[in-house]
Amino acid sequence: MHSEKDLIDYSIQPMTSDDLEDVLKIERASFPNPWTKGQFESELRNPVSTSLTLKAEESGAEVLAAYVIYWVVHGEAHILNIAVNPLMRRRGMATVLLRESLKTMRRSLVYEVFLEVRKSNSAARDLYRKFGFVEAFVRRKYYGDEDAIVMKLEF
Ligand SMILES: CC(C)(COP(=O)(O)OP(=O)(O)OC[C@H]1O[C@@H](n2cnc3c(N)ncnc32)[C@H](O)[C@@H]1OP(=O)(O)O)[C@@H](O)C(=O)NCCC(=O)NCCS
Repeated sequence: MHSEKDLIDYSIQPMTSDDLEDVLKIERASFPNPWTKGQFESELRNPVSTSLTLKAEESGAEVLAAYVIYWVVHGEAHILNIAVNPLMRRRGMATVLLRESLKTMRRSLVYEVFLEVRKSNSAARDLYRKFGFVEAFVRRKYYGDEDAIVMKLEF
């Protein structure tokens, strides 16, 4: 079973510009082609975009553990980015953040959710499958060096 028991104290909050330094550290440690600071700033300004952070208590201090960014447009949601601090993976952080995001989407009358994932990213593909996402189609060379699998969840 999943070790969400480790996730004793956490909060989910909207991302602010004060979070960007920590977010960028996680981003750079997580992706071969990380987003720039400017890309995150533009999401913070974008009215269709939601950017959330998960902050967890670690040895008495609050640590930025994970973030997610998604758009909602006309009942369709698109998850653009999700990453977890490499030191805090496999402890249910992505699960908690995704569950909260999907709950909020439902409340906003979203009926389907899309995302792209690298074909080789089996950790993320497994995570999404657990939430009921299905693999819809392939976008060839979406990442330049690799295909993307487009995954879809219908509510
Ligand atoms: C993918 C990622 C977000 C998962 O975050 P996480 O907090 O470790 O995930 P969780 O602990 O909530 O795991 C939930 C499920 O996802 C799957 N999963 C997560 N990490 C996995 C791994 N390394 N290998 C295989 N499956 C994995 C498992 O099914 C897991 O359930 P289990 O622990 O009960 O087996 C994290 O590995 C990450 O930040 N990766 C780099 C960025 C990235 O690839 N983002 C997705 C882009 S589409």
